[in-house]
Amino acid sequence: MLNGRFTIKIKPKQKSFTILPLCDLHIDKRAFRKDNSKSVCDIRGVKIALKEVRDNEDTYFFINGDLFEDTNNTTRKRKAYQDGRMTVSTLTTEDEDDMDFIDKHIAPLFKGISDKCMGVIMGNHFKIFSNGDTNIEYLCRKAGLPLLGMHSGFLRLNIFKNKSKCRKQDFWISHHTKTGNKKGNDLNKIQESSNVPIADAYFYAHSHFLGCIMKPRPYLNKIGDAKVKYVPMIRGGGFRKSFSIDAKNCDYPEFYDGEIRPTGYIRFIVNVKIADQLKISYEPQEVYIQ
Ligand SMILES: [Fe+2]
Ligand SMILES: [Fe+2]
Repeated sequence: MLNGRFTIKIKPKQKSFTILPLCDLHIDKRAFRKDNSKSVCDIRGVKIALKEVRDNEDTYFFINGDLFEDTNNTTRKRKAYQDGRMTVSTLTTEDEDDMDFIDKHIAPLFKGISDKCMGVIMGNHFKIFSNGDTNIEYLCRKAGLPLLGMHSGFLRLNIFKNKSKCRKQDFWISHHTKTGNKKGNDLNKIQESSNVPIADAYFYAHSHFLGCIMKPRPYLNKIGDAKVKYVPMIRGGGFRKSFSIDAKNCDYPEFYDGEIRPTGYIRFIVNVKIADQLKISYEPQEVYIQ
């Protein structure tokens, strides 16, 4: 697990800024063909979200896993990669093809907005090249995107309004891979939920659901009075057609739990008010792409 930092400077009259937690893009090579109907990725949706970042000065984003559809990271391979035990060998033609695809199609998607990227989580769909590198790390280097972690990471946001006023907000960003319905997965999930890190907002992905709950969190203030703080917990949606209304057109028309999940993302608006100190409030909006 890594942890990232990101600084946002608020202009004198600015009242808010927006963060797009983009999840489960599942971009494949077919998305860039002339006829991309066989692609599992709704690339049009991905472009709509990135355009929103490009067109709005005060909109930022992060990637919460599964940016690519293709994966070769078996548990064994992934463990070897994590432990640094990957056998380093020369690149295969397939690896070079993948790098070429990233250079030509994926890195350009982030051109001009890489400094608005708060971090990238790898998720469970990524490729490990034969030299031990991964397609995600390769993309991050090429496009200038900061890598946050494989499955999860903290993101500390330093928000400045005027030179002297600063507020820190800590986000917990997790792809939340262990959300399967098998017993082993379920037990992992229980274990994980007993160990929730302390943060101001929580972002999850992987299930391709889109939604937000405000979870009450009781605490004692400095003088010992019980208070409740509401923290947002967000499932950030996704851009994979097999979970969307367009699923019938793609090669993999399987529906998770038989349920269709529309393509979309969350517009996470951070309101900033200046009083004695900076006051922050959140306003999540679900954005469905039709
Ligand atoms: Fe996914
Ligand atoms: Fe996933």
